[in-house]
Amino acid sequence: MDDRKKIIIFDTTLRDGEQSPGASMNIDEKLRIAHQLEKMNVDVIEAGFPIASIGDFEAVKRIAETIKGPQIAGLCRASDNDIDRAWDALKYAGERGRIHTFIATSDIHMERKLQMSPDKVLETAVKAVKRAAGYTNNVEFSCEDAVRTRKTFLAEVVEAVIAAGATTVNIPDTVGYAIPHEFYDLISYLMKNVPNIDQAVLSVHCHNDLGLAVANSLAAIRAGAGQVECTINGIGERAGNCSVEEVVMALRTRHDIMPYTTAINTEHIYATSRLLSTVTGIVVQPNKAIVGANAFAHEAGIHQHGVMMDKETYEIMTPESIGLKQNKLVLGKHSGRHAFVDRIKDLGYDLPKEDVEKAFMRFKALADQKKEIFDEDIDAIIADEIIRYEEKYKLKQMNVSSGSFAAPTATVEMEVNGLLKKTAVMGAGPVDATFRAIKELTGTNSELKQFIVGAITGGTDAQGECTVRLEENGREVLGQGAHEDIIVASAKAYINALNKMASVMDRKSVAGF
Ligand code: KIV
Ligand code: ZN
Repeated sequence: MDDRKKIIIFDTTLRDGEQSPGASMNIDEKLRIAHQLEKMNVDVIEAGFPIASIGDFEAVKRIAETIKGPQIAGLCRASDNDIDRAWDALKYAGERGRIHTFIATSDIHMERKLQMSPDKVLETAVKAVKRAAGYTNNVEFSCEDAVRTRKTFLAEVVEAVIAAGATTVNIPDTVGYAIPHEFYDLISYLMKNVPNIDQAVLSVHCHNDLGLAVANSLAAIRAGAGQVECTINGIGERAGNCSVEEVVMALRTRHDIMPYTTAINTEHIYATSRLLSTVTGIVVQPNKAIVGANAFAHEAGIHQHGVMMDKETYEIMTPESIGLKQNKLVLGKHSGRHAFVDRIKDLGYDLPKEDVEKAFMRFKALADQKKEIFDEDIDAIIADEIIRYEEKYKLKQMNVSSGSFAAPTATVEMEVNGLLKKTAVMGAGPVDATFRAIKELTGTNSELKQFIVGAITGGTDAQGECTVRLEENGREVLGQGAHEDIIVASAKAYINALNKMASVMDRKSVAGF
């Protein structure tokens, strides 16, 4: 019998994580991530902000309809319209639907942003919770910028919203300002000074501006918090949020001094991290804890020697515990469907038959040109063929001539809103000519902010991988593309970014947030 306290893992990758610059996801991408979070067995998935746009609403609704295990939360401001809209999307999850409403409680936010008195904020918070509680018993209330809120006022708000029906009360460090011992004191203060605190779960939501989000979350757990809000790979506003994998693996690895547990199936962590990077184009830094490429690599001879003698000399957790398989079998021209299907399963992809078939055809084509196919190649194939499916703009064919003699010219054929279009354009170089041609065919105006070219693996026969960052009207998106021909990979990345831009442009920004 495990008498450790269970910490609720509230994943907000699809809401706060999506607020990372360039991280916007379409509905299908969000659903894929939600399925992976379901496999990881997170307790709550915050699926989005339903009133923000039709796309956000649809994503929350689809996730509420489809995902069966975790609770599904939707964020809303403390206003009737927001709450009603949130429930319209969440009701499909039945009792697992959670309304998450919030208002700022710090003096600076109340005075300068909301222009409301503390009494008015308190009244609005209580009214919002009562309205939400009219729909469901599963109501979370967040005191935005709690860390910079006067303690006595914070305690007053927490007590009032619990009395009004909130079953979870969240204490966000919205600007990532707290220091662990200070955050420990704040949570301890609330545990002591809010008389009805035992009637709700106290949650924390830490941002990483000072690199302390995980440390602050662990300090809060020690002080009595029962829920941690976090994101995969720590993505989120500015420097991001508390990372799921770090907080979960810290609790698991140091259970000797932290008597807590979570329900997370940690063996799915690595696949989830990879999937999120593929979908968003936000790569994980190599030295990132738990999921970085170097997290389990031992470089120094003395370390390698120690690990060979006994892994525990330098390993505090095993790669297998996060689902990282180290004996990778390299596939090639002669590998059959069976080996390919096994490998994609090992990598954590759970694809329907027709998608497996598409990916296999592309694998075969690549294997004809490239001797060894590595996991990174398979990731790129799946991303390109299945995950980054194209919507409005599709590349049909292209041809580029370049060199030191004649002006580089790109001939590009695309499907734009279902219509076939073709053009030939000259440019300063082959990529410039290609991008100009795509711009002409799509009639788009996004500004190219960044263009990165890389090789997925070593060798001159490696697939090229491109990342494109575009900006338009203050919105940023990232697009990716991979192909044996680096110019085709560039075109794919550019078109992927344009499709993403088209889907985020319909989202209106929500005032006051
Ligand atoms: O950082 C924050 O304060 C938030 C809340 C809306 C929970 O994301
Ligand atoms: Zn946040």
